[in-house]
Amino acid sequence: MSDESPNAKQKRVDSGITRRTFLGMSLGTGATLFAGGSATILGADSSTATSPVTNPTWQLGGDLPVNRLGFGAMRITGEGIWGWPPDRENALKVLRRAVELGVNLIDTADAYGPETSELLIAEALHPYPKGLVIATKGGLTRPGPGQWVPNGRPEHLKQAVDGSLKRLRLDRIDLYQLHTVDRKVPMEASLGALKEMHERARKVLPIVSVQNQYNIENRKSENVLVYCEKKSLGFMPWFPIGGGRGLKPDNALEKAAKARGASVVQVALAWLLERSPVMLPIPGTSSIAHLEENVAAAAIKLNPAEWKAIDALAG
Ligand SMILES: NC(=O)c1ccc[n+]([C@@H]2O[C@H](COP(=O)([O-])OP(=O)(O)OC[C@H]3O[C@@H](n4cnc5c(N)ncnc54)[C@H](OP(=O)(O)O)[C@@H]3O)[C@@H](O)[C@H]2O)c1
Repeated sequence: MSDESPNAKQKRVDSGITRRTFLGMSLGTGATLFAGGSATILGADSSTATSPVTNPTWQLGGDLPVNRLGFGAMRITGEGIWGWPPDRENALKVLRRAVELGVNLIDTADAYGPETSELLIAEALHPYPKGLVIATKGGLTRPGPGQWVPNGRPEHLKQAVDGSLKRLRLDRIDLYQLHTVDRKVPMEASLGALKEMHERARKVLPIVSVQNQYNIENRKSENVLVYCEKKSLGFMPWFPIGGGRGLKPDNALEKAAKARGASVVQVALAWLLERSPVMLPIPGTSSIAHLEENVAAAAIKLNPAEWKAIDALAG
């Protein structure tokens, strides 16, 4: 899956736009896309804090609070991110449990399934609890299982937003992400289409987050992360725990995990959260046990020696 594969070479920069100052625009359906306020987005308002559930928070765009450890909803679909999951009830339970555990940032895309991830989110969680941010994406299509084809054409993106609004039963999308850059379409045209969907024109499309592959072993996007820190943009690492392949065993990660009676995955997530205050990990899982384990990682604080040893594992 692309999200795991053939297009992996293609530089993936998911640019998120979020709500506020823009008051949204009406689409054909009467639905509304909310997009981010510009002035506050890059301002000093963005901050971290610790919530009562020990999941530290981030202000997306400076004004949309999310608990930093989120949930990636790519894995609740069928095998190969295609179709319905083998156990639909379980997928619904995983989503509801995530929210119960305090997760209020769920990452999805029209391409996951395709469509099934968004449909399951609505089935499990609509009407949505206050403060739940569903970040979806468009611009990467699925002509068949295992196939991921970029489509950044303006007409396609407009339809994609409309489709996501319907499937998610939303009248606005808090965070919309361009799933990939389509090299056949000028970036300006793709972003222009999204911009057009706002009620008011802006000089610059407000960008409030970036989503790139990043984990302990793969830090090729380190410079992007540093840029996000400088600009107070959220950074959502995909494959935060190595994707389906997992992370290499027998190293400082495993040592710290054993010493704390935690799992390697938990330590990897704790490392990500400590790596940067703008880091918004969205580990994906189809399992309630794994979900609970992952959310509990937000409470782990690594000591300086553990931190240094794990940090040295960069690939
Ligand atoms: N923008 C993009 O192009 C892009 C690409 C890929 C992904 N994403 C997003 O990023 C999210 C995260 O990426 P991802 O799901 O591919 O990779 P990931 O979170 O790094 O890893 C998910 C894999 O780890 C397993 N897992 C999860 N928790 C575990 C635990 N506690 N112990 C052991 N195994 C565990 C899952 O299997 P089980 O189901 O068995 O738990 C699954 O196979 C996705 O869900 C999606 O929302 C975006």
